[in-house]
Amino acid sequence: MNQAASYLCPMEDLLKQIQNYKQEISSTVAVDPDSLEAYRIRFLGTKGIVKNLMGEMRNIPAEKKKEFGQVLNEFKLFAESKYETWKQSVTGSGLQKEASGSMDLSLPGDPLPLGTRHPISLVRNRIIHIFGRLGFSVAEGPEIEDDWHNFTALNLPENHPARDMQDTFYINRNPDWLLRTHTSSVQARVMEKQKPPIRIICPGRVYRNETISARANCFFHQTEGLYVNEQVSFADLKQTLYFFVQEMFDKDVKIRFRPSYFPFTEPSAEMDISCLICGGKGCQVCKHTGWVEILGSGMVHPRLLENFGIDSNKYTGFAFGMGVERICQLKYRINDLRLYSQNDVRFLRQFTNAI
Ligand code: DAH
Repeated sequence: MNQAASYLCPMEDLLKQIQNYKQEISSTVAVDPDSLEAYRIRFLGTKGIVKNLMGEMRNIPAEKKKEFGQVLNEFKLFAESKYETWKQSVTGSGLQKEASGSMDLSLPGDPLPLGTRHPISLVRNRIIHIFGRLGFSVAEGPEIEDDWHNFTALNLPENHPARDMQDTFYINRNPDWLLRTHTSSVQARVMEKQKPPIRIICPGRVYRNETISARANCFFHQTEGLYVNEQVSFADLKQTLYFFVQEMFDKDVKIRFRPSYFPFTEPSAEMDISCLICGGKGCQVCKHTGWVEILGSGMVHPRLLENFGIDSNKYTGFAFGMGVERICQLKYRINDLRLYSQNDVRFLRQFTNAI
């Protein structure tokens, strides 16, 4: 071996060794604390391979020191990062504890935070269930409505004073669009597509431009009902709603109808139930009348049926609309509408399984 070859040899040899060590590390997995520690001592310990290779630096000729230094440094980082990765998986996953038998498998698990149903959802689902038993199916419609379905088709032409009963949010981009003010718009959409018999309820959110307070909000929830068939009478309306309140509240609840006005029904009536708080004797909730109003209703106006090509000589129908928050208020004694949208879990948690 000549002179030149003899001082090149250690570096080549060392590079080969480093290559082999890298392969060895790559094919190794430390799965328990003992093998991890053995790895640390062999490669990273004070008398370990990395330290030894560092010591070889002095045998490397000056002009090669930089190159060898870089390879060595890279190898050192490689060996250290493997160690850190294994260390995390060995200690972090609990394998260490398991291996030493110190994990107590009988301990209870960490509790999972479970959500609860919103009172509005609970009441809406109950309404759907009760009317479902009477053969009503659920129909839905868009919250951004057009003038026709929300007003005109329901016998509320432009400039009709009854439009003022519902302060409306209009959409800037198109004066014909609005946020529906009631779920009666779904009645219109169903009659447009379906021929009698029609028996639907339409639960959903509605919007009105009102100042937010304990008694008003800019949105709330309604459930509309519609039954159109041959020979549907006011007696059917009465009995259907009577069944509903008995199921929803209590068998002893009484109902009464007061004449009213809605453009889409004729005759129209508001329905009250006997006060659940005082049983009809008179209290603050019923303003000492013994009765609380819960919904609007009536016989579908013949003009509506004709608007949708339904023969009003052959078919009649009844409709009603109720506020879900109102039913909630009576059922759970919630007296501030704002509570429904504040998302305070201490409030929301109180109603699970209460229905
Ligand atoms: N749409 C009415 C409202 O929002 C409620 C209503 C009353 C709906 C009578 C009806 C009905 O279908 O027949 O105030």
